[in-house]
Amino acid sequence: MPVSIVVGLQWGDEGKGKMVDHLAEKAVAVARFSGGANAGHTVEGEGKRFALHLLPSGLVRKDVIGMIGSACVMDPVTILEEIRSLEENGISTKGRLKISSKINLTHPGYKCIEKQSEVNLASEKIGTTGRGIGPTYERKFRRNAIRLDDIINKTTFTSLVDFHTKEAISTLNLGYAEVEKLHSDVAEFIEATREVAGYSDDVSLSISRVLDRGGLVIAEGAQGSLLDPDHGSYPFVTCGQCVSGAACTSLGFGPALVTDVIGILKAYTTRVGSGPFPTELDNETGEKIRRAGHEFGTTTGRPRRCGWLDGMLARYTARINGCTSITLTLLDVLTGFEELQICTGYKGGKFTTGRSMGELVPVYETFSGWTEDIRGETKWENLPEAARAYVLAVEKIVGVSVTSISTGPGRDDVIWR
Ligand code: GDP
Ligand code: IMO
Ligand code: MG
Repeated sequence: MPVSIVVGLQWGDEGKGKMVDHLAEKAVAVARFSGGANAGHTVEGEGKRFALHLLPSGLVRKDVIGMIGSACVMDPVTILEEIRSLEENGISTKGRLKISSKINLTHPGYKCIEKQSEVNLASEKIGTTGRGIGPTYERKFRRNAIRLDDIINKTTFTSLVDFHTKEAISTLNLGYAEVEKLHSDVAEFIEATREVAGYSDDVSLSISRVLDRGGLVIAEGAQGSLLDPDHGSYPFVTCGQCVSGAACTSLGFGPALVTDVIGILKAYTTRVGSGPFPTELDNETGEKIRRAGHEFGTTTGRPRRCGWLDGMLARYTARINGCTSITLTLLDVLTGFEELQICTGYKGGKFTTGRSMGELVPVYETFSGWTEDIRGETKWENLPEAARAYVLAVEKIVGVSVTSISTGPGRDDVIWR
């Protein structure tokens, strides 16, 4: 009865979607446990390229069940667009998508409120994805959010929706035209919620049934551990908990069922949005990485900030997640660099992910680069000596075995050691 949890070990975009799709070959179900449509998970399979936001990456494989946990947040309009986009590409979700009935919904007013609050936060602008994630979680913990199962009772649902519409109008002091637009978005939200309620499910029970039959469940994380509201670079974080422990809460299973925690680690570091980034390369080398790795956000299209691998942070995130193995991704992007650097500590032995994280000054170890094109390589022994040395150094610095290496965006571009 195995559960494998897949988590990102940096600030997101580590290649989780690609690896989940690769691993899903052996899975019965893939269940997303964190975040909402702020995520962008790219999967290249079935001859096509898919950018998934809230739908689990496993759905691209037609025989896999996709589930979405209660600690995710959902914009019903956006998820319907995603479902339709998959259908247009020949992938139907009918009968194999299960969304927790307890999931909290993103009312259209939340996105306007979020936009406004980013303007107000002069000194600590987060640079959110604008998907209304923060306001949805805020209302969940304020205990007056709208959940999918509220649709069952028309009076309750209508009064909740009205409350949040009125709150947005008064908070934002909207004018006539904006109020009209909001009312029309709310009508669309109600219609979409009715439609998406067809996928409503007791996800915990469904997972338990898969496990009872001996099937593999992959719990798919979103974002990265450094965006986790507890363990990440607070306050420059998201609001959904994205470390491995959150999988149990969101999907409703106990920790004893977890057999593997697979940490996805990019061979260098990227970050979208604001916040500290000790190994950032705001120079030609960073630009070279961005170009080689096509580092532009899947959800917002923003250029990703790029830098060297931070081994200290990876060691920390591997610990808080309890990683049993690591997949090192995008190694092929580092081809053609004369030298590579990995941060192995900070000056003065300091370490924090709190508000003074920006003061950390990295100490680097330097490694030889390689020139051979390794894209799509599937054999460890075919990697250039310098690339193998780099992988072995990562393993040593992080303190967890690197059992697989991703060498390209394609489903099968993986080396297993
Ligand atoms: P996620 O959010 O963690 O799922 O990652 P994203 O999909 O946002 O970003 C990872 C990007 O790298 C996507 O464009 C993937 O197609 C691509 N990718 C994933 N693994 C590899 C790899 O090993 N090599 C290369 N070159 N691209 C990869
Ligand atoms: P995946 O799953 C990279 C970042 C945003 C912003 C901060 C808060 O593709 O790895 P939010 O809209 O969540 O309130 O924004 O978090 N962020 C991500 N960065 N990858 C993601 O997801 C992200 N999801 C949120 O850029 O800095
Ligand atoms: Mg992404």
